[in-house]
Amino acid sequence: MSSVLHTELCDLLGCDLPVIQTAMGWIATPELVIASSNAGAFGFLSAAVSPVEEVRANIAKTRAGTNRKFGVNFHMFQPGAAEIVDLIIENKDQVRAVSYGRGPDAKTIQRFKDAGILCIPTVGAVKHAVKAVELGADVIVIQGGEGGGHTGSVPTSLLLPQVLDAVDVPVVAAGGFHDGRGLAAALAYGAVGIAMGTRFLLTQESPVPAATKERYLNADVTQIPVSKALDGLPQRMIMNKVLKDLDSASTLGLLFRAAINAFKFRNLTGASFFGLLKSGIEMARKTDMTLGQTIMAPNAPVLIQKSMVHGRPDEGVLPSGQVAGLIRELPTCQALLSKIAQDAEERIEVLTRQDAPTSETSRVMGGVNAH
Ligand SMILES: Cc1cc2nc3c(=O)[nH]c(=O)nc-3n(C[C@H](O)[C@H](O)[C@H](O)COP(=O)(O)O)c2cc1C
Repeated sequence: MSSVLHTELCDLLGCDLPVIQTAMGWIATPELVIASSNAGAFGFLSAAVSPVEEVRANIAKTRAGTNRKFGVNFHMFQPGAAEIVDLIIENKDQVRAVSYGRGPDAKTIQRFKDAGILCIPTVGAVKHAVKAVELGADVIVIQGGEGGGHTGSVPTSLLLPQVLDAVDVPVVAAGGFHDGRGLAAALAYGAVGIAMGTRFLLTQESPVPAATKERYLNADVTQIPVSKALDGLPQRMIMNKVLKDLDSASTLGLLFRAAINAFKFRNLTGASFFGLLKSGIEMARKTDMTLGQTIMAPNAPVLIQKSMVHGRPDEGVLPSGQVAGLIRELPTCQALLSKIAQDAEERIEVLTRQDAPTSETSRVMGGVNAH
């Protein structure tokens, strides 16, 4: 592979390509992390929606499937967060990084740093990037508004330069990426790589059931709006009947549904009702979330699992980046990453060649879908 794609991110994370497979609850399983890491990317295992023992088993399974370094995603308000931090640190020989949104405090971040584990939060606004670096972040992933799941309002093309100008740590671009052109563009901005969620959700090795993948492959780029109706926070999802119903429900209706889902969520995580209430109050106290938002929080896992685990896309919600509207096939991680690398190299080569005719530099190259 040419040195043009070997960025500081590859040195920091020990991966071949400057590409991160991001964490997605119930999707970034050991199988996906093993496949993306063995194909040259850096994979993040999702731990944010799992009880401690499941996280322990998933870390062990990932270790057994790859010699590559990988990352773990968690958040400080999930049940068992302190044990998960300990578990990650126990695995510091292979867990190279942690990612988080609602992140750990400076003391916990220092524990990771002392263990040689890099802290790589994802942020959706420039002020959050500055704060994260103050708290000790080693690398920042910016997620532009077109990105999947919880997302901000500033598009990647504006947030990326804003954050690059505001912080002095390496920055990775996320939100809307799926091909080699995007990687070349992100590097041209000054990012050290790209991070992708939706694109990895739509691979052979992603554990998402076929019926749900099919729904994503048929999504229209204009039908993947942001809504606060799921858990009170802006979340980008493919429009379906469940989302339409949530969007048109009254506040009382939303709270009633949230209460039912809180009980279902309790069974799912094994957390006690008191434990859940405690994490909700903690979350409202220590973050900028309102109590209403924390009460609605259990909606998300229950409705996401319906589509992502049970394969019933019409009964659950479908968190997705807008980029799903451009993705029409399910490559293996290996095929996807080889194509991205090849296209990004070609694009950069054409742009940097002294004698390149203008028509060639402006030629649009196809992404993985073009073949
Ligand atoms: C289905 C889905 C689930 C997600 N779940 C999580 C999650 O559990 N934790 C997290 O930090 N980010 C989550 N995200 C956000 C992704 O990690 C990533 O930042 C985002 O998908 C990037 O934008 P893209 O989809 O355009 O590539 C999720 C995204 C999707 C599409």
